[in-house]
Amino acid sequence: MTFNSDNYIEYELEISRAEASPVRVLQDATGAARCGVGSTVWDAGLVMAKYLDHQAQSGELDLTGKTVLELGAGTGIVGISLARLQPKCTVILTDKAELVPLLKHNVGMNTCENAIAEALDWCDSGEQQLSGRWSEARPDVILVSDGIWASELHKPLADTLSRLAGEHTRVVIGYETRKFDEEAKFVALWSQAFRFRDIKPGEQHPVMQSEDIYLFEGTKKIGR
Ligand SMILES: C[S@@+](CC[C@H](N)C(=O)[O-])C[C@H]1O[C@@H](n2cnc3c(N)ncnc32)[C@H](O)[C@@H]1O
Repeated sequence: MTFNSDNYIEYELEISRAEASPVRVLQDATGAARCGVGSTVWDAGLVMAKYLDHQAQSGELDLTGKTVLELGAGTGIVGISLARLQPKCTVILTDKAELVPLLKHNVGMNTCENAIAEALDWCDSGEQQLSGRWSEARPDVILVSDGIWASELHKPLADTLSRLAGEHTRVVIGYETRKFDEEAKFVALWSQAFRFRDIKPGEQHPVMQSEDIYLFEGTKKIGR
């Protein structure tokens, strides 16, 4: 899949790490690139990126030496922000193969050597696609922003989370609510293998939050 940057425009997100320039990503705001929903920045991604920024600023997030896996990364706005905020962690941004050229380009725009982009399709086996990387070592954190908008993806995503998370993996999921009943079905499915809690507005970034956007964090139930 080739990547033609002529079809894309730049999006900037301020991060609060001292002396840091804004995170910059290209996105397809016109649809001309025909690369699917992942080629634009979604609001839930902004809320999640700023929540992680807020946590890092308040000293509640130290990912030194840790590995973070992002699923359905799209433009990479969340994972790249985190890689910039926490330069001593490794962030693996994943999406369907057609998004990987954009992800790689956006990682390069931010010169963050601690971030890489790879293909991982929830509808295939995650372990095989990531070269067996997670068969022993599990990611410390898994991020998913706005990954449940389509109900046919609920089971593949829940299965991928179950397959890739270990007992100690912190999974952070965020989404904008559009069809409450459908989203509740994903949450019910996820809760079969994970215990989780909602991240309250008071814990989120004081400005970049929305009553339509929910954040949850969870860990796998032992033995699942
Ligand atoms: C609504 S977009 C959100 C993008 C990004 N996380 C954000 O918040 O800006 C959903 C993302 O899920 C990805 N996705 C959809 N189906 C997928 C699949 N089967 N495997 C992996 N990623 C998938 C899309 O390519 C897209 O990047």
